[in-house]
Amino acid sequence: MSRIYEALQKAESERKLDRREPELDMQDQPASATMTTTVAEPDDVFATPRFADAPIVTEPYPEPSTRRLGGDSLDLSRIPTRPWALSLPQLPALLERGPAVEQFRSLRSRIFELRDISPLKTILVSSGVPQEGKSFISTNLALSLARHKNSKVLLIDGDMRRYTLHQILGCESHPGLADYLAGKADILEVMQRPGALQTPTAGTAPSLPNLTFIAGGNGGDKAADLSGSPRFGELIRQASPHFDWIIVDSSPVLPVSDAVNLARWCDGVLLVARGGVTKFPVAQRAQSELKASKILGFVLNAVQETPEVGGYYGYDGTAQ
Ligand SMILES: Nc1ncnc2c1ncn2[C@@H]1O[C@H](COP(=O)(O)OP(=O)(O)OP(=O)(O)O)[C@@H](O)[C@H]1O
Ligand SMILES: [Mg+2]
Repeated sequence: MSRIYEALQKAESERKLDRREPELDMQDQPASATMTTTVAEPDDVFATPRFADAPIVTEPYPEPSTRRLGGDSLDLSRIPTRPWALSLPQLPALLERGPAVEQFRSLRSRIFELRDISPLKTILVSSGVPQEGKSFISTNLALSLARHKNSKVLLIDGDMRRYTLHQILGCESHPGLADYLAGKADILEVMQRPGALQTPTAGTAPSLPNLTFIAGGNGGDKAADLSGSPRFGELIRQASPHFDWIIVDSSPVLPVSDAVNLARWCDGVLLVARGGVTKFPVAQRAQSELKASKILGFVLNAVQETPEVGGYYGYDGTAQ
């Protein structure tokens, strides 16, 4: 697996992008540049047309059901446990050592630093276009956080169109977030914790006592409307006191508006760019779409390894 280079922005130190920056692949940038954040101020970036079938929901979303949420208290001991079969190749954060683990620990440390500056608990992970690594980063970040000092982590699959986190974790995808937002399930019904942990291959699966998961459910054609529901804000409000971190995976922001809607209820947004794939203007547009939210920074994902960076982390290609 390729290394992950992450670059998080400190909230107070946003810098303007150089307008003369040519359109280039992230991979073309020198390795040292990947460890600093280059994030445009909102006014610097240009508007992106939205797809006609994905309007921003600005009106209050009508409650689709009279079902009650069960009050403000959330008894975590009532979260059902289910069998999970982890896809370990997609979960390098569970390894004990190696470059990938170090990269996720580094990302985690940067997030801790940001939390020292201002309150930070709910983080939405998004990107401009599909297949840049949002689900990979959000799942591994959640696991990395959950392995740190018994932090309690809630991982939400907020991509109700292409929900995939349940595949990585090897668990049921229903009921999920879409069912909750549609009023078809309450918060405890959509939460799950790992019971018996299995792996598809022989091997020991690490225990994950601090991880709670909400799968995507199937939003289908209604995903845009569902993502605009205030019930998502209610979910965050109810869950927040019980978790140290809430990580929300999401759809790409340029084709559809779902992530922008969900981001309204989150403390900050982590944007993913894929090395060698994501074009600079795409990253700019993604940030522009989320200008109403606090952009924490970019994670530059799947960058080819370079000897310099391997040396920086003290590992070489054979040290895994
Ligand atoms: N750093 C990486 N190293 C190896 N494989 C990766 C890496 N990042 C992502 N992938 C793989 O690339 C594919 C796309 O990643 P992922 O599903 O996380 O993207 P996404 O942005 O969530 O896509 P979508 O927009 O469709 O939801 C997956 O098969 C994933 O396992
Ligand atoms: Mg995804």
